[in-house]
Amino acid sequence: MSIFAPDALKGKVFLVTGSSSGLGKAAAILIAECGGKVLASGRNISRLAACIEAMAGTNHVALPFELSNADEVADWVKSIAEKYGSLSGIFHSAGSELILPAKMIKQSNLEKLLDSSFFAAFGIARASSSKGVITDGGSIVFMSSVAGYRGQLGLSAYSAVKSGVDAMVRSLSCELSPRKIRVNSIVAGAVETEMHARLVVASSTEAISEYERKHLLGFGQPTDVANAVLFLLSDASRWVTGSNLVIDGGYMVR
Ligand SMILES: NC(=O)c1ccc[n+]([C@@H]2O[C@H](COP(=O)([O-])OP(=O)(O)OC[C@H]3O[C@@H](n4cnc5c(N)ncnc54)[C@H](OP(=O)(O)O)[C@@H]3O)[C@@H](O)[C@H]2O)c1
Repeated sequence: MSIFAPDALKGKVFLVTGSSSGLGKAAAILIAECGGKVLASGRNISRLAACIEAMAGTNHVALPFELSNADEVADWVKSIAEKYGSLSGIFHSAGSELILPAKMIKQSNLEKLLDSSFFAAFGIARASSSKGVITDGGSIVFMSSVAGYRGQLGLSAYSAVKSGVDAMVRSLSCELSPRKIRVNSIVAGAVETEMHARLVVASSTEAISEYERKHLLGFGQPTDVANAVLFLLSDASRWVTGSNLVIDGGYMVR
C-alpha cells in the first residue's frame, strides 16, 4: 500500500519504459495507485499485459516498443504525445546489463547495451525538447546505477553507460529549465529484480554475499526505487533538477 495520497498524480499522464518488469513495473503500479494514467512500454506483450492488470484504474495503455535507435525513439515519443496529449512526465527505466570482462567486449555487445539505456535516453531527450511533448513544469527521470561511481568486475561498459546518463541529465536539465521541465536520475544500488537475479546467477555465492554486505541496508526492493521515482515525477520535487539521486541502501558511503 502506497504512503502517497491516492490523488497525488490525478489528471497526469506518464510514459514509463520498462513497464514489463522490475523497477519500471513497480513505478507504473505506484503511479496508478496515486491516480496517474500510465502509458506502459516494454517489449514482452504478455508481461506488459500483466502490468496493466496489476495497476489500479482502467485508463492505462500498453505501448509495446523496441528501444534501439535515438531517432526512432524520438519519433515514437512525439507520436505518443500527439495521440494521448502532452505528457506530465517520463520514467525511462528500460535497460539491459552487460556483465563481461573488457577483454571480451565486442562492438555488438556495446550496441545492444547502448540501445535501450543510452540511445533511447537521447531519443527521449530530443522529443522532450519539442514543445507540447512534455507539459511545462513536467519531469523526466532516468535510471542510473552505483556502477557508474564504483568499480566492479565485469561492469566496465555498464558503468560507462550509466555515468554517461548521469552526465547527460546535468546538461539536459539546463536545456529544459526555461520551460521548468525537470530532469533527474536515480543512482540505484542493487535491487531485487530480474536483472539482479541474472547478476546473481553469473556470480559466486561469496561474491553476492560480499556485494550484499556492502549495502548497509541490504539489497533493495523495487518499491524502494518506485517511491523515489514518484517523488521526482510529482510536484513535491518542483525545485529538484539536474540531480543524480542516490537510492542505494548505503552502498556508496564507503
Ligand atoms: N535492479 C537493479 O539492481 C538496478 C540497479 C541500478 C540500476 N538499474 C537500472 O534500472 C533499470 C531497470 O532495471 P530492472 O532491474 O527493472 O531490470 P529488468 O527487470 O530486467 O527490466 C528491464 C526492462 O527493460 C526493458 N527493456 C530492456 N531492453 C529493452 C529494449 N531494447 N527495448 C525496450 N525495452 C527494453 C525490458 O522489457 P521486456 O522485459 O519487455 O523485454 C524490461 O521491462 C535499468 O536501466 C537498470 O540498468 C537496475
